Amino acid sequence: MSESQLKMDVVVGDFVARETDVWVIGVYQGGEPQAALSRCGEVVEREVRRVLKSGWMRGESGEQLFLSVPGGCGLVVDRLLLIGLGKRESLTVESFRGLGASVVKACEKGGMDRVICLLSLDSHQGIAPNRVMEAMAEGGWLGSYRFDRLQSVSKKEAPRHRLKRMEFVLSGAKAEGERKRLIQVERIVRGVSLARDLANLPGNLLSPDGLARKARELAERLPIKTTILSGAVLVQKGMNGILAVGQGSVNPPCLIVMEYRKGGDRPTLAVVGKAVTFDSGGISLKPGAKMEEMKFDMSGGAAVFGFMQAIAEMNLPINVVGVVPAAENMPSGAAQRPGDVIKTAKGVYVEVINTDAEGRLILADALHHAASFDPDVIIDLATLTGACVVALGEHATGLMGNNEGLQKKLRKAGEYCGERLWPLPMFPEYQEQIKSVVADIKNVGGREAGTITAACFLSRFVEDSRAWAHLDIAGTAYDGSGTRAHVPKGAVGVGVRLLCRYVLAERM
Ligand code: BES
Ligand code: MN
Ligand code: ZN
Repeated sequence: MSESQLKMDVVVGDFVARETDVWVIGVYQGGEPQAALSRCGEVVEREVRRVLKSGWMRGESGEQLFLSVPGGCGLVVDRLLLIGLGKRESLTVESFRGLGASVVKACEKGGMDRVICLLSLDSHQGIAPNRVMEAMAEGGWLGSYRFDRLQSVSKKEAPRHRLKRMEFVLSGAKAEGERKRLIQVERIVRGVSLARDLANLPGNLLSPDGLARKARELAERLPIKTTILSGAVLVQKGMNGILAVGQGSVNPPCLIVMEYRKGGDRPTLAVVGKAVTFDSGGISLKPGAKMEEMKFDMSGGAAVFGFMQAIAEMNLPINVVGVVPAAENMPSGAAQRPGDVIKTAKGVYVEVINTDAEGRLILADALHHAASFDPDVIIDLATLTGACVVALGEHATGLMGNNEGLQKKLRKAGEYCGERLWPLPMFPEYQEQIKSVVADIKNVGGREAGTITAACFLSRFVEDSRAWAHLDIAGTAYDGSGTRAHVPKGAVGVGVRLLCRYVLAERM
């Protein structure tokens, strides 16, 4: 297991004598320093109060100010970083993720190697010190992710300065428990980074076969059993949804299955993730504008990979089966046509009205296959509909399914980690929209409620008796703006932290 370049740790009690380059101190809007300033020694306190009084720094969120510690005062540290927290009452756990990422960035820009954060010495708005630490560490690691492997050597020759050590001061805490918490966060974020790497790779560099290879690599390194269904096996199993979507591409489709069984007789969770390595729309070709973004159409599958790695590295006592249908959706003389009727593995006949509604076709077979493991819960993640982007934008994942209790737990996990979910209804009436004249169902339900009718389609491949949740991540899977410090532009890796927090709360 390759280690993160940035190490994080807990300092309990006396931090003043600890060797470091900089202390980070929070300042609320209005220029009020966090209470812990009083523990920094007289010289530092006086200096910070003098600076705040002079109005150089007002504590607006996003504000940063480096100060030198007056010489000859006998302190080991020689710099301070004042960081604006904004309005006290607007502070949330998510703010601390952003702050963690901003601190890392500021320190790297300033050429520093080691930093001690004092923010975790206080509770902020009822957010406990160890939660402050956890969120800042998570944000720090998430924000230091870079996808630079496709940039030329010359650019790498002038690498940016990297922060090496970030420490959080906690008073009177049990250091070992808190250290374990940090290790857990690190493993979760490594899963996010894997998901981001996979999703950021363009279609020419990551095919369904490439994904299968990655799944085998996970199996070599971790207690995961990988099985790849392809070619004749897909034909024999009647997985014509996956085959039909893949048939227009020179890169053949496959179904990737990853099993992690460390939970003894505990219940089994199945996670299913759409992996269309590139979605051109097929014969129902997409318009050219922003078509390149469809390399992210395997973000659901990428999340499953990241999640599987994370739970295995955390060594959690749970049972999980990851199922990833992988295909490339291309137009060609061999591609499926609008009007084609395919028989899915479950036996349901589907009329393909639009070859661009391909995600539900591969998920149909994958959900059916997932059921063969008799899981107690099935969760699928998919960049499934443009309609979901219209409905919820990039700030919430669409949540549907057949089980209120499961949705509640998932929303709670989403609140915990900042990956919010928002429910859409699945009233039976919506099912009418996918009735077909020639087959059992068709793969589009018209312009209205496109996200819901897509979920209705999926529901036909899950038994009513099995708890199932569908997460439409079309709007949350990638970030074009880079406005959040802990989310670099490109693949977000959404779903990994959510699933980890769900199983950690649930201990399936
Ligand atoms: N991968 C797309 C959905 C998508 C669109 C994800 C934009 C992220 C951003 C999916 O395969 C698709 O093309 N869906 C169609 C369905 C329609 C033809 C019923 C869509 O949403 O337009
Ligand atoms: Mn499509
Ligand atoms: Zn798609």
